[in-house]
Amino acid sequence: MDYKLVLLAFNFLVIGVTALSPITIKIALGAALFKIKSMKQLTINNELLINVPKILEEYGVGYAKFNNLTIYGFDTMAYDFDPVDLPDEGDFTVNNIPVNLSFAEIGVRSKYYVDMGILDTIPVYGEGDFRLGFNETNVFINLTMSDQYAQNISIRDFDLKFVMRDSNQNYIRNFWKNEVVSNFLSSLINDIEPLFCAWYDYNSECIDCILSRIIQKIADQVLYPGKHSHIKCRCLNEVTDEMQNILDGFLQALDSNTLQMWIKDTLKKPQTVKVARKIYDNILLTVKDENNLLN
Ligand SMILES: *[C@@H]1O[C@H](CO)[C@@H](O)[C@H](O)[C@H]1NC(C)=O
Ligand SMILES: *[C@@H]1O[C@H](CO)[C@@H](O)[C@H](O)[C@H]1NC(C)=O
Ligand SMILES: *[C@@H]1O[C@H](CO)[C@@H](O)[C@H](O)[C@H]1NC(C)=O
Ligand SMILES: *[C@@H]1O[C@H](CO)[C@@H](O)[C@H](O)[C@H]1NC(C)=O
Ligand SMILES: *[C@@H]1O[C@H](CO)[C@@H](O)[C@H](O)[C@H]1NC(C)=O
Repeated sequence: MDYKLVLLAFNFLVIGVTALSPITIKIALGAALFKIKSMKQLTINNELLINVPKILEEYGVGYAKFNNLTIYGFDTMAYDFDPVDLPDEGDFTVNNIPVNLSFAEIGVRSKYYVDMGILDTIPVYGEGDFRLGFNETNVFINLTMSDQYAQNISIRDFDLKFVMRDSNQNYIRNFWKNEVVSNFLSSLINDIEPLFCAWYDYNSECIDCILSRIIQKIADQVLYPGKHSHIKCRCLNEVTDEMQNILDGFLQALDSNTLQMWIKDTLKKPQTVKVARKIYDNILLTVKDENNLLN
């Protein structure tokens, strides 16, 4: 699962940091990024089968299958990083590792087969190809790690910033086994993507902060089990505790393989509704502003 990929990525950094020297971090990171770039794309050769989970049966039934799901665009990546030795604190060595990545194009494409019914009224079926991607995606990472004689490695600070542009190359083919519907959907996706990018730009401070804190929390659990870090983002002032509880529960469920149960419990909680409501209000607000800008 995705969790393992996160582990793998951090392994590289841990190897670098345990060697206690920015030069070595530079070599390890350089090797990792070069390898990713020369992979060009990543194809999952196994068929991915996604069933509507039993607990969501009241909302929908059916399944989706993906063949040759490919993440493309690694070869369009440019990167730059410059590890710095920050002043040590007592026994702790502190390294700051800023990494900038930019992708001219990045996205996912796949063969899909879907056969679902949503709420007994909306049939979702089709069999064909789809592609969803972004142009000019930049990722700015600012990572600060510390360690004590190659032990007690932890993340001091992790900041992630995303910037992306729409691609207008997105499509879905053979949806409802109908060309007209597919063309309509494809142009709809291409029309919505710029709005999504604008929405992200508008809210990037908040979303980047939440993503950064979640990644840091997962990494902390791996590197330093027992360390208790909080998800704190200014934009979440009103819901921080709820968000905190939800994330704690999520990470616990991930560890103990009880994710399905956790989803079921979480969906029922009033806190979830409050967080969802906050996000929904936020979207409404943005859309309203967008409309004001357009008119
Ligand atoms: C997936 O890709 C492989 C290699 O390109 C190809 O042989 C195979 O037919 C593809 N599978 C499907 C379902 O398209
Ligand atoms: C990353 O990009 C920012 C903004 O463009 C720039 O100020 C910074 O020097 C870059 N850092 C590296 C390591 O390339
Ligand atoms: C990156 O983090 C370090 C340590 O927290 C900080 O000193 C530096 O200003 C940050 N750089 C950027 C570009 O935010
Ligand atoms: C560092 O790790 C060692 C061994 O795991 C442990 O005994 C020690 O208490 C830790 N020190 C700190 C400051 O966390
Ligand atoms: C995205 O990149 C593709 C390929 O370079 C280009 O054809 C397309 O026009 C770009 N889209 C936008 C919205 O710039």
